Amino acid sequence: MVKSGLFSLMIVGAVAFTGHTASAAGDAEAGARVFRQCKACHTLEAGKHRVGPSLQGVFGRISGTAEGFRYSGAMRDAAIVWDDETIAAYLERPRQYLPRNRMAFAGLRKEQDRLDVIAYLHEAQTAE
Ligand code: HEC
Repeated sequence: MVKSGLFSLMIVGAVAFTGHTASAAGDAEAGARVFRQCKACHTLEAGKHRVGPSLQGVFGRISGTAEGFRYSGAMRDAAIVWDDETIAAYLERPRQYLPRNRMAFAGLRKEQDRLDVIAYLHEAQTAE
C-alpha cells in the first residue's frame, strides 16, 4: 500500500518534470491555464473577435489594428508594437499602462503568469 503510493507519486513527479515545455521564460502549458482568464473575451482564431480582438497574429501587430474589431481610441492612438515586453507590461496593469483602453481586465500581477501566458500565445500562433 505504502509502496504503491510512493510509486505513483514518482510517476506523477516524472510526468510533471517531462510533460511540459518549460523554459526559462515561460511555460506554455501553464500559460494555457492562465489563458482561461482571457478566453471570455479573446480567441486565437484569426479574425474571430469576441468582446476583445483575436490574438492570432498579435506579435508584431500594432495595437488597435486587427481587422474588423472596433477598438477604443486610446488603443488605436497608442500604436504600441506588441511583443513579449509590451504585452507583459500591458497585462500587468492594463489600465495604468494604457489609460482609457477598453479591456475590462484587472491584470496579471504575477510575473510567472505573464511569462506563461505569453509562451502560450507564442505556441498558439499559426504562422510566426
Ligand atoms: C473582459 C474582457 C477581456 C479580458 C478578460 C481580457 N481582454 Fe484583452 N482585450 C479586451 C478588449 C475589449 C481589448 C481592446 C481594448 C481597446 O480597444 O481599448 C483587448 C485588447 C487586448 C490586447 C491588444 C490587442 C490588439 O490587437 O491591439 C492584448 C494583447 C490583450 N487584450 C491580451 C489579453 C490577455 C493575454 C488576456 C488574459 C490574460 C486578456 N487580454 C483578457 C478584452 C479583454
